[in-house]
Amino acid sequence: MDNNIVWHHATVTRDRREKLNKHRSKLLWFTGLSGSGKSTLAHALEEELHQRGCRTYVFDGDNVRHGLCRDLGFTVEDRTENIRRIGEMAKLFVDAGVIALTAFISPIREDRDRARGLFPHGDFLEVYVKCSLEKCEARDVKGLYKRARAGEIPEFTGISSPYEPPVNPEIVVDTELDTLQESVEQMIKALEERGIIPNRVV
Ligand code: ADX
Repeated sequence: MDNNIVWHHATVTRDRREKLNKHRSKLLWFTGLSGSGKSTLAHALEEELHQRGCRTYVFDGDNVRHGLCRDLGFTVEDRTENIRRIGEMAKLFVDAGVIALTAFISPIREDRDRARGLFPHGDFLEVYVKCSLEKCEARDVKGLYKRARAGEIPEFTGISSPYEPPVNPEIVVDTELDTLQESVEQMIKALEERGIIPNRVV
């Protein structure tokens, strides 16, 4: 590149930050339909991690689509760009030693795989928040499915825009079968087993 940008190497490395934090930094990428429970799960897991002394940050529509991505809508192209920006941003947080949690529908497999490709192997953990369309629609927390069925919201995921479930996610949580607490326990266990956070002292 000849744009006069010089990449500065930090002396405070990710490794040193992780040692200071006493846990590894990772990205937990939640994906699932609208209303499947991504944000709820990510925030509940963050609460548990925070109480254990971990440095965390949740990205979701509230803090991203109102700011960094407020120029983007819901066409396939805009969603791709949304996911690209989130991936790049989460990468900086992982470098900063944080356990980043992203809660976006991220419906397109290729977009998620591209985000995964930004990370060294093992740093990107895909969490599939499994919940049938029927159940999400029955919950209709924000009343958007009803509006989408009425034709008021074009390109609505699951109704008039695709959702491609992960093929090989690191973690699957089923919000139809399990309670919030059970799902959080399951994710904590998965993080302990991978040595990302220390085991709970009992
Ligand atoms: S993504 O597809 O680009 O990953 P994102 O997670 O940021 O989507 O935003 C999804 C949220 O935006 C939904 O939970 C819903 O509240 C709202 N939304 C508004 N329009 C749409 C739409 N056409 N399709 C899906 N979600 C929509």
